[in-house]
Amino acid sequence: MPSTTSARTVILGTGGTIAGRSQAASDNVGYRAGEVSVADLLAAVPALAGHALEARQLAQIDSKDMDHALWQGLAQAVADELAREEVQAVVITHGTDTLEETAWFLHRVLAPTKPVVLTAAMRPASALMPDGPQNLLDAVTVAGWPGARGVLAVAAGRVMAAEDVRKVHGYRVDAFATDEAGPLALVQESQLRVLRPWPQADADEAARLVQAIRQPVTQWPRVDIVTSHAGCDGALVPALVALGARGLVAEGTGNGTLHAALEGALRTAQSQGVAVLRASRCWAGGVVGQPEGALPSAGLLTPAKARVELMLRLLLQG
Ligand code: SIN
Repeated sequence: MPSTTSARTVILGTGGTIAGRSQAASDNVGYRAGEVSVADLLAAVPALAGHALEARQLAQIDSKDMDHALWQGLAQAVADELAREEVQAVVITHGTDTLEETAWFLHRVLAPTKPVVLTAAMRPASALMPDGPQNLLDAVTVAGWPGARGVLAVAAGRVMAAEDVRKVHGYRVDAFATDEAGPLALVQESQLRVLRPWPQADADEAARLVQAIRQPVTQWPRVDIVTSHAGCDGALVPALVALGARGLVAEGTGNGTLHAALEGALRTAQSQGVAVLRASRCWAGGVVGQPEGALPSAGLLTPAKARVELMLRLLLQG
């Protein structure tokens, strides 16, 4: 059953297609993201009228333009809201394109015990059949659900963990998937069917990370992604190191395998003090195992999340 207390849920708006507007209601691609205020998004969902909600507009961007400063501000805002006793959860309206990166960032930096629910939409708010209103209602349902915790993503009726969620389609309304782990829960008619335990995170490391980002971060450690592919010569690696990269994520083939030329270039960079993680460009499965002598594996993390992970590890190293 949903929570019946008077606890409040804070909705932080950051933009995205969920807040997008197009000239014609039939146009689901030629719109501008981040146009409709979070207050108006809430007002468009009559079923939310009875909920104790507070709305704050934190940003109004297309999430392809997400940057580290906004992540820092978002993490601080979420931490401040969660610290309020009367706040039971935070919902973040976000673009779909970088939602999984923001989710991983918040998971690692906050390790929240209250729910932090990211939601999004594939169709603009002006569409004939927008998906945002249902996703927002579902996100608020999850936010108030007894026992729910951690950084979660809610879209198309599924509740997904920050670790597992990944955008897998560029157009379909059902755009997110969760690899083999599956969703944590399903939202069905404002009820949750919980399938798996709620996620846990490393609270000790999060405490150190949140402390680190309470200060202005003058320079985020530069971490770039390089892809392994046929004909790869590894020449990007020294170029990125010359640009100041302190970390490199290799988006490998299959189980994180790398073209010999790229691997050679990465080993040279590693010997110069550059941190390296090896991920997979396959859409599921991550990298399994760590054979002796292989470059360090990113495990189940997608290349985009591995980049966030490496940047945060380097931030802690100073
Ligand atoms: C964005 O990520 O802000 C635009 C695309 C979307 O939300 O689907």
